[in-house]
Amino acid sequence: MAFHPLSKNTHLLQWVAKMAALCTPDSIYWVDGSEGEYRGLCDQMVASGTFTRLNEERWPGCFHARSDPGDVARVEERTFICSLSREAAGPTNNWVNPFEMRRKLRKCFAGSMRGRTMFVLAFSMGPVGSPMSQVGVQLTDSPYAVVNMRIMTRIGLSVFAEIDRADRRVVPCLHSVGRPLGPGEKDVPWPCNPEKYIVHFPETREIWSYGSGYGGNALLGKKCFALRIASNLARDEGWMAEHMLIVGLENPQGEKTYVAAAFPSACGKTNFAMMVPPRALVDQGWKVWTVGDDIAWMKPDANGRLRAINPEAGFFGVAPGTSLKTNPNAMAALSRNTIFTNVALTPDGGVWWEGMTEKPPAECMDWRGLRWTPEIAKESGARAAHPNSRFTCPASQCPTIDPEWERPDGVPISAIVFGGRRATTMPLVYQAFNWTSGVYIGATMGSEMTAAAEGAVGKVRRDPMAMLPFCGYHMGDYFGHWIAMQKRLAETPRIFHVNWFRRDEAGNFIWPGFGENVRVLRWIADRTRGRALGRETPIGWVPRYEDMDWSGLDFSAERFEELQAFSRAAWRAEVISQEELFFDLHDRLPKEMVYERELLICRM
Ligand code: GTP
Ligand code: SPV
Ligand code: MN
Repeated sequence: MAFHPLSKNTHLLQWVAKMAALCTPDSIYWVDGSEGEYRGLCDQMVASGTFTRLNEERWPGCFHARSDPGDVARVEERTFICSLSREAAGPTNNWVNPFEMRRKLRKCFAGSMRGRTMFVLAFSMGPVGSPMSQVGVQLTDSPYAVVNMRIMTRIGLSVFAEIDRADRRVVPCLHSVGRPLGPGEKDVPWPCNPEKYIVHFPETREIWSYGSGYGGNALLGKKCFALRIASNLARDEGWMAEHMLIVGLENPQGEKTYVAAAFPSACGKTNFAMMVPPRALVDQGWKVWTVGDDIAWMKPDANGRLRAINPEAGFFGVAPGTSLKTNPNAMAALSRNTIFTNVALTPDGGVWWEGMTEKPPAECMDWRGLRWTPEIAKESGARAAHPNSRFTCPASQCPTIDPEWERPDGVPISAIVFGGRRATTMPLVYQAFNWTSGVYIGATMGSEMTAAAEGAVGKVRRDPMAMLPFCGYHMGDYFGHWIAMQKRLAETPRIFHVNWFRRDEAGNFIWPGFGENVRVLRWIADRTRGRALGRETPIGWVPRYEDMDWSGLDFSAERFEELQAFSRAAWRAEVISQEELFFDLHDRLPKEMVYERELLICRM
């Protein structure tokens, strides 16, 4: 047991001592990252009621956790970018004066860890020692956060060694669930606080998170560090931190094309990153390789080629809808050593969620711990699993994990894909005319809101580059950074927009999606290599019916026309609604965005 420091770094030691003095935990524990330590923490959480161990035969090494019903998703309203000036955070972020916020936070954190252990968790975003990686230390009173972070990032001794050896800049991350325990008080299974603060100080590169134990609120390496803080690092250092999956498509000749794709939360990144091509394409020799499912850090190499790493080591994936049919690779990845949060528990010690099997279990315990049956569901509409229930599993367990996924210098990116969840207007796929028009497409992206964040599910909102909740500075400056990246690249990736979610008049999805999406990926990859044809439209290049590989799928040319249809009336409304966001950002909007908008209007 490491109740003694595992680092000699004096800054780190001083900071730990200072934060311990503020939070007054009962003990301080330095996390070594070992398997034994992980098992011990899981056992401890089984004993305390946070975890249920699943049936060892069917779900080896797996656990189930049920969160507090008030702590089930990211809380965007309670997420703050506390830069020195309000201007630097921009109108799309919540801002509070950092001095005021620090005062507020010091009050929250004072004594917040009483009765608990403070874990000192060193983690590396990206392979340890990679020139593209970054190091953080999370102080947390949540063992749940520790075990999840062990799956999601690289943690422990090797990272402390890296801090000591290279004297690396460490991003300090303080996290408390905000529920101190009185002497002898019994803990609850999911401690948290109704008052929540997810706070970023971009100038000092600090994260303070209070009151939540869930997902991106608590696993601070993920959205807080790898996106909100890293977007600031990236702007300053000339690289990109994006809410993107990374996938490789291998053609029958063995040539691989890597693509990075930004879809908003719960809009299909995990599925796209792991898709299984339909039989007919597999037989031709097409293969899909997974590099990452949520975050990409991309940097130009010495030759001006954009290269990307996945800074994470695990998947924190949406459970509902995941099945052997839709995503067999995810099902294999989560079949062992996985933590399930807010899914349903079956009587035989297994888990279930909506969409996992066609036939629901006759009976189970829902995500709130209440008895659930299909009959009860029919009557009350109660869901067995929360719509934002998640699995945490090691990326290495994914059958299609790319042999290159941990390459320290990343993989070369040939295309960037944007996409949202849109019932109307947006075709299945189109290609931007050039980098600037592609940046415009990303900047004006819209999507129906999902359960990944608290808020109105289903409403279309502008979510530029899928980064609205994750960009740690002014969105106008962020567009400017995208524009500026072109000058650092010898060859820019081609840019595309996709939409798997267009519906017909009856309200059904027109496109079958999932594995069939590889047909779109194939057109994209072939376009980047100048091998596929298309047709020019006012919004960009689109494939004609005959430009797509339809082998093994019965999808008519008429249906494809419906899917790809460009409607002037719908686009007029679209362009007007795009302007709303630009209006908010006008004083820092790059002029390229204004010109692109004018050009689009002229073409229409
Ligand atoms: P975050 O982890 O929140 O960033 O989300 P994500 O983008 O990784 O989302 P994910 O792949 O988990 O997909 C979320 C939901 O979209 C699931 O319920 C899927 O079933 C559904 N989905 C994914 N791909 C498709 C598709 O091609 N077609 C349709 N109709 N649904 C899809
Ligand atoms: C998202 O909401 O985009 C996620 C899940 O990937 S969380 O880590 O909770 O942010
Ligand atoms: Mn995400």
